[in-house]
Amino acid sequence: MKSPSTFLPYFCCLTLLLLLPFCGRAADSDSLQDFCVADFKSSIIVNGFPCKPVSQVTSDDFFFDGFSKPVKPNQFGIAGIAGNVLAFPALNTLGISMNRVEFSPQGLNPPHSHPRAAEVGVVIQGELLVGFLTTSNVFHSKVLKAGHMFVVPPGLIHFQMNVGKGRALAFTAFNSQLPGVAASSSIFNSTPPIPNKVLTKAFHVTDDVINIIKSKSAHP
Ligand code: GLV
Ligand code: MN
Repeated sequence: MKSPSTFLPYFCCLTLLLLLPFCGRAADSDSLQDFCVADFKSSIIVNGFPCKPVSQVTSDDFFFDGFSKPVKPNQFGIAGIAGNVLAFPALNTLGISMNRVEFSPQGLNPPHSHPRAAEVGVVIQGELLVGFLTTSNVFHSKVLKAGHMFVVPPGLIHFQMNVGKGRALAFTAFNSQLPGVAASSSIFNSTPPIPNKVLTKAFHVTDDVINIIKSKSAHP
């Protein structure tokens, strides 16, 4: 017989999805039909994606196995898998999405924000330092263990770091089919680059300092 802990990830994911409507911000606009599986081939531009013809929709459209596929950790020691509308087209118009984030020891999901969504998360394994900054620049943080949840209000800068001994795993969920990610480091690696005269003035440092940060923040 399976131990109760086997079911923890599934229980937590279900809880996340049930809580999404209460995230404190209107989700993406309400759907006007049962479903609208995204048709990425359409040349029509709308807010979201046009629907695949219903006659071409199959059961497979409503299931996603992307979270079960192995992903290599990036340079920060995290392996993230996005379950948003781009990966799972049946989410189109439904106003929800999820991520799976696995952390190597000391792995960091660096400071970032989601311009179009609130985030809720649950730690499935390990110990994560989770934190976010308010618009008054107050820093809220806590070390969370398996089964603990967190919330990040819409648009606020946040991060998670593995502070336990082994690997850590979390699932996050959003009240948007495509929450978007604005990484704080993008100030230093945008295309085209933000001029050094802006960054030296903004951070009260010299050109050398900005050049070092820019070289270290370059995309791999
Ligand atoms: C975590 O912050 C995530 O965006 O999945
Ligand atoms: Mn996030």
